Amino acid sequence: MGKLVALTLLGAALALIGERLLSFRQRINASRYIEPVELQNCHFIETIETGSEDIDILPSGLAFISSGLKYPGMPSFAPDEPGKIFLMDLNEQNPMAQALKISDGFDRASFNPHGISTFVDKDHTVYLYVVNHPHMKSTVEIFRFEEQHRSLMHLKTIKHELLKSVNDIVVLGPEQFYATRDRYFTTFFLSMLELFLDLRWSYVLFYSPREVKVVAKGFSSANGITVSLDKKYIYVADVVAKNIHVMKKHKNWDLTQMKVIQLDTLVDNLTVDPATGDILAGCHPNAEKLLNYDPKDPPGSEVLRLQSVLSEKPQVNTVYANNGSMLQGSTVASVYQGKLLIGTVFHKALYCEL
Ligand SMILES: *[C@@H]1O[C@H](CO)[C@@H](O)[C@H](O)[C@H]1NC(C)=O
Ligand SMILES: *[C@@H]1O[C@H](CO)[C@@H](O)[C@H](O)[C@H]1NC(C)=O
Ligand SMILES: *[C@@H]1O[C@H](CO)[C@@H](O)[C@H](O)[C@H]1NC(C)=O
Repeated sequence: MGKLVALTLLGAALALIGERLLSFRQRINASRYIEPVELQNCHFIETIETGSEDIDILPSGLAFISSGLKYPGMPSFAPDEPGKIFLMDLNEQNPMAQALKISDGFDRASFNPHGISTFVDKDHTVYLYVVNHPHMKSTVEIFRFEEQHRSLMHLKTIKHELLKSVNDIVVLGPEQFYATRDRYFTTFFLSMLELFLDLRWSYVLFYSPREVKVVAKGFSSANGITVSLDKKYIYVADVVAKNIHVMKKHKNWDLTQMKVIQLDTLVDNLTVDPATGDILAGCHPNAEKLLNYDPKDPPGSEVLRLQSVLSEKPQVNTVYANNGSMLQGSTVASVYQGKLLIGTVFHKALYCEL
């Protein structure tokens, strides 16, 4: 009897794992056909060759780009080189990206930047918050941007028990931010198992020096996060579940879910068009090719624009789509006055005039 129960349980467990594995493979479908959507007037940003994972553009047109991410399971073209933050002035005729110098006293050798977010205080000082993975751990680094010297002055490293496997961050006040934790487990094997089994233990947390708390949970893998123009709503991308959660922000920083916009592609990082409030989403149409990177059959890129996000029927348009022949593994797209930047996990970055 005991054996029969054990066998039945084993069978049920295997069936569950098999079903979850199949559904995971369906979600990251490598063979999905990508209908190309081309943009005129695009070129690669010259100095960026090893990723442009996250891009944040200031209202003044200065763009910060994080580059050189080393992330478990993802390819890297420069595994031994520290990551960098590039700066680009989109007001220039032919903007070039230049790596920012980072002040002494910060461990530049282990710099592994991931999500970034800018914050401008009332004295117009610009701060750059960077999710960092030194030695595959997670910290949030605060830098002050020194425009005359084109440099970043390191001010502080934030660590916290809840700030593990951090992916992206959106800063809303001095040392006040939301961050996504994309996986519960920090070891590669367990985190892959977590994804296969779709445990949904990934969450969004709020951080301030006085309080740190989980404000939304139940994500397969919470990834990009950003805030609406009126600062009332927070948008969270669940990359594996292929959707965007629209969440209302409360006075005590808690978030409640208003709606989920389901898409047919893995949504990575989100930005908001400052002119229209539309969401721009950098997506992975066939993420399986990211996990099993083959330069002869590379992962594609896709950028979506979501209009009227709060309405009954948000419109979703494809801004850019490519099967990897030009741009591989797009993560983010950001616009400024008719200019569009598209970033990638480990590949190049595209500059387009719309
Ligand atoms: C992937 O998508 C293609 C076409 O869209 C479909 O034919 C195929 O069955 C899908 N594969 C999986 C594993 O879901
Ligand atoms: C952005 O995209 C990368 C690429 O996968 C993703 O891992 C990170 O998840 C996202 N967050 C930020 C801010 O870049
Ligand atoms: C990818 O797209 C390019 C240009 O649109 C096309 O020439 C090429 O055949 C495509 N490759 C695959 C594998 O579909």
